[in-house]
Amino acid sequence: MARLPKLDIVSTDDLTVAQIERILDLAQEFAKALEERRIPELAKGLIMATLFYEPSTRTRLSFETAMLRLGGATISSPDMRASSASKGESLADTARVVGRYADLLVLRHPCEGAARLAAQYAPGPVINAGDGGHEHPTQTLCDLYTLRRKKGRLSGLTVAVCGDLKAARTAHSLIYALARFGSNIIAASSLGMELPGYVLDRLAAQWGYQPETIAMAELGAVAGQLDALYLTPRAPHQMALFTGRTPLPAPASAAPRVFDAFYLTRSQRERHGEEAGEPAQYLRFDLDALRSSKAHDALVMHPLPRTGELAHEVDDDPRAVYFEQAGAGVPVRMALIAWMLEAAGAAEARPRGEEFVASAQGAPMSRCPNPTCITRHEPDYLQPRFRFAPRQVAGALRMQCAFCDQTLNVELVGHTTSRRYYRFDDRLYGYVRQWAEKQTLTVFESVKEAEERGYEPYRRGPQREILNAAEVAQACQALAEQIARDLNDPAAALLAGVVSRGALLALRLRDLIESRRGVRLACAALDVYSRAAHLTSIDDGEDVGTEAKTIILVDDVINSGWTVQRAMTTLWRQGRPAALKLAVLIDRGHRTLPIRPNYVGKHIPTGAGERVTVRLAPPQADAAERAGERVVVYSLLESRREAEPRA
Ligand code: NCD
Repeated sequence: MARLPKLDIVSTDDLTVAQIERILDLAQEFAKALEERRIPELAKGLIMATLFYEPSTRTRLSFETAMLRLGGATISSPDMRASSASKGESLADTARVVGRYADLLVLRHPCEGAARLAAQYAPGPVINAGDGGHEHPTQTLCDLYTLRRKKGRLSGLTVAVCGDLKAARTAHSLIYALARFGSNIIAASSLGMELPGYVLDRLAAQWGYQPETIAMAELGAVAGQLDALYLTPRAPHQMALFTGRTPLPAPASAAPRVFDAFYLTRSQRERHGEEAGEPAQYLRFDLDALRSSKAHDALVMHPLPRTGELAHEVDDDPRAVYFEQAGAGVPVRMALIAWMLEAAGAAEARPRGEEFVASAQGAPMSRCPNPTCITRHEPDYLQPRFRFAPRQVAGALRMQCAFCDQTLNVELVGHTTSRRYYRFDDRLYGYVRQWAEKQTLTVFESVKEAEERGYEPYRRGPQREILNAAEVAQACQALAEQIARDLNDPAAALLAGVVSRGALLALRLRDLIESRRGVRLACAALDVYSRAAHLTSIDDGEDVGTEAKTIILVDDVINSGWTVQRAMTTLWRQGRPAALKLAVLIDRGHRTLPIRPNYVGKHIPTGAGERVTVRLAPPQADAAERAGERVVVYSLLESRREAEPRA
């Protein structure tokens, strides 16, 4: 019986140009064989499982048809929400289990990086049928197949990829492939839906390619508006490319050019979140858009489904190839399976950039910045992994998530053995690479996080006291008074202190408020840096909900605002509070986020390179301990060549 090799197709990058060409050749043979009804039963005995966590018509049905046509069989859980996933089964377990039933897994999932994860756990090969807004490599094979059939080649073409370039995975995979084949890409995005930086980075770093990016409104200009105007002088048809918007004058540098294809995408509403609302003005492509002589031989392509951006009147135009493109799904996916069989024993999985876990055992975990990355959704077992981003910029370390490819800019790095942290500068790069190799690299979002985790600055300057014990007590009093004055419904109020010093402060405030108002507020500790950040009652250690409560978030110092932002995300996850207020003992005023505390003990402007530490005594402390309370400031010294860190 045939056997499939462990060749995972997660990205178009997992296939070389030669392999793609071979698959397209095979697809052509299968298209003919399908027509002639003489199909070799190459996949007899093989079983493919289709696991779809998102809706699909074309991709799932054409994959299943392809397998059946080749004599294989399919098992499917078309709606994974009706599977054990609804009971909370992890994707890793699903991949391990179904991978034992079937020879091949085809997965579609709303999270970026999901297919990479499944590939890591499934014993057999995994094909990505779309992972969030990331990639959809087999749609690209269909697109390339159609382009090559119609244009006779894949190099030197000019393709305008239009619409939602931010979240359309089909566009991302296609652009990577076109760059590799040496075609020109005109990225014509709708407003606010531009190609993400990580896609541009990858194009630049891997293929030295920079697509021409223009706003939809300018596409008409680039396409050569004059032709359109010439054809219908009274109706400026270039507007039809983007209705409701006055076209911009042609940029001086934009020479009119001939288009080989327009690749349209729908607005990926489901990925932009409710708050994004409807795109103000989205692409609308109709026959007028094709009137320019520059579009004379242009194909109109669309991965489908369409949702209004592509007028039905275009369907009968000979340049409209989107139904052919969808039809190609069967021969192309047959070709992919046949190629995998052919490649068994010959082709090796393509090496990927070196990956590392940015932490050692028991040390902090760096998170991928992308909220819909699979690593953020399956955190119980999945270690986030990173690569060094192919393009580094001066002064910051750039790491790229090994699952979703998005980039993380790192300012603070730590060495897990010496437990020192450093503000990154370019001279540290070599060390950081070594630490990554030895798995002793960790990164922090803020100095506060580093110190909460027990890391010391690499070097610090002399310390200076800015508040003594009496002044600390006064600042606490001032803070408690502001909160007490503002307290309407003490029974619904909850003091939530950020672990650790914020929690100590919350306890202090509770006592002070009790002595002023005679009410004892509920008090909880919020651990924002643990892997599963949560809120627990300081009195009984039980988890606390936030629903309908007035939460007073308490922390000792606010600077950039990152910790508070992290705390707020955690709080929202536990329920919808009625109100959220912020109380800080010291406001240093170097905010990078738009966050303003409601209650402040004391404003102390300090330098950006300085660190403020609050020493607070626990609630039952004796007089001597109280006398030791302080606020001190010291400067963080940058690493210097003469004092390079020891790894
Ligand atoms: C696309 C997808 O799922 O990404 N559909 C497809 O597979 N042909 C396009 C889309 O949903 O917009």
